[in-house]
Amino acid sequence: MVNVRRCPELVVLVPTYHEVDNLPELARRVFSAVSKAGIEAELFIIDDDTQDGTEGVCKQLEREYPIRLITRTVERGLATAVLHGIRESTHEYVIVMDADLSHPPEDIPRILELLKGGADFVVGSRYVKGGSTDAKWGVFRWLNSKVATLLARGLTSLKDPMAGFFGFPRSILNEATQLVPIGYKIGLEILVKAKCRRVVEIPIAFADRVKGESKLSLKQQLLYLQHLRRLYRFRFPQAAEIIQFSAVGSSGVIVDLFFFLSLTYVARIDHQLARAISFVIAASWNWFLNRWFTFVAGRDKQWGKQWLQFLIAASVGFGVNWGSYKLLTDHVPYFTEYHLVAFFMGILLGMGSNYTLCRWFVFRPFDETIRGSGT
Ligand code: GDD
Ligand code: MN
Repeated sequence: MVNVRRCPELVVLVPTYHEVDNLPELARRVFSAVSKAGIEAELFIIDDDTQDGTEGVCKQLEREYPIRLITRTVERGLATAVLHGIRESTHEYVIVMDADLSHPPEDIPRILELLKGGADFVVGSRYVKGGSTDAKWGVFRWLNSKVATLLARGLTSLKDPMAGFFGFPRSILNEATQLVPIGYKIGLEILVKAKCRRVVEIPIAFADRVKGESKLSLKQQLLYLQHLRRLYRFRFPQAAEIIQFSAVGSSGVIVDLFFFLSLTYVARIDHQLARAISFVIAASWNWFLNRWFTFVAGRDKQWGKQWLQFLIAASVGFGVNWGSYKLLTDHVPYFTEYHLVAFFMGILLGMGSNYTLCRWFVFRPFDETIRGSGT
């Protein structure tokens, strides 16, 4: 009879980069915690080819514990390392944690118990009652973490969505779940993309690392902003598009005003001509930003033609703006008295017309399915 090795129910994934000194203690505490709770588990270390002796230490540890070292030589980064571990494993339950013992391995059994009880996603949280961060945390690190959390408010109501200590059943990831994280926040990526419904936070005491250094750099924090933008687009494609379109439009007003004033008062050209020139410059500015940021799929179109189309759409928008102002103030008694209200209604209608034309004409993707999937 062929001896088929049965896969344990749990895999603990630990991404590592320069963590060799932490591995023996990590393995000892993880396996002590799971064996006390009668859990069968494997530990996968996903190392980005650190070459600090990780390989040798893992070989030693493998003799004692069910550990597997996966060394990546091409790809880099925390989030993709975790994804790699997910792909390389088949266990029913997955728990992700840091190597530096910031996350107490003793909480693993509790997380698994909740997952088995039907939770889709369990987070080891610093910010729920009973959770804590190390006393050594300075104001800056604390504030930094709070701001990052606040920015993710629209995506999740978790108190600690930044957590790197979390677990989920493999079944929440189906083929439709395209995980494309950038930077550090793989937990948030899974939480949003897999549309987890039963989400639970358990308190943990987050300890500062004793050995080695944190790899959380400023670059990672900037990547986080880019990642957030992507997740908001994923969750609210229409609203995200409209908000970005409006933000671009508002920046265009400033450009318009700047050139109108400079041309009139500095270059001293005729104010009506200046008005036309500044309109074209501002519209071109808007077109450029919308092509690159708002309508991702629209950048596949030939730019010259699209620029002209945008100028036409913007002129139509201006026509709607001015025309509705005229109609309202000519024919509706209320607006003959309150011109300013008509002025803003005109702006709103003009922007609406602009957006509609942009969305369905100027930047319309050739293939609707690629909409919102880009960066
Ligand atoms: N494979 C791989 N590749 N692993 C990495 C990489 C990388 O490029 N960068 C970091 N890691 C590993 C580290 O070795 C460690 O095991 C884990 O990822 C976390 O990295 P740290 O450098 O210790 O991160 P941190 O302590 O600043 O941040 C932690 O806390 C944050 C919340 O404050 C992490 O858990 C974050 O995910 C979490 O958001
Ligand atoms: Mn750490």
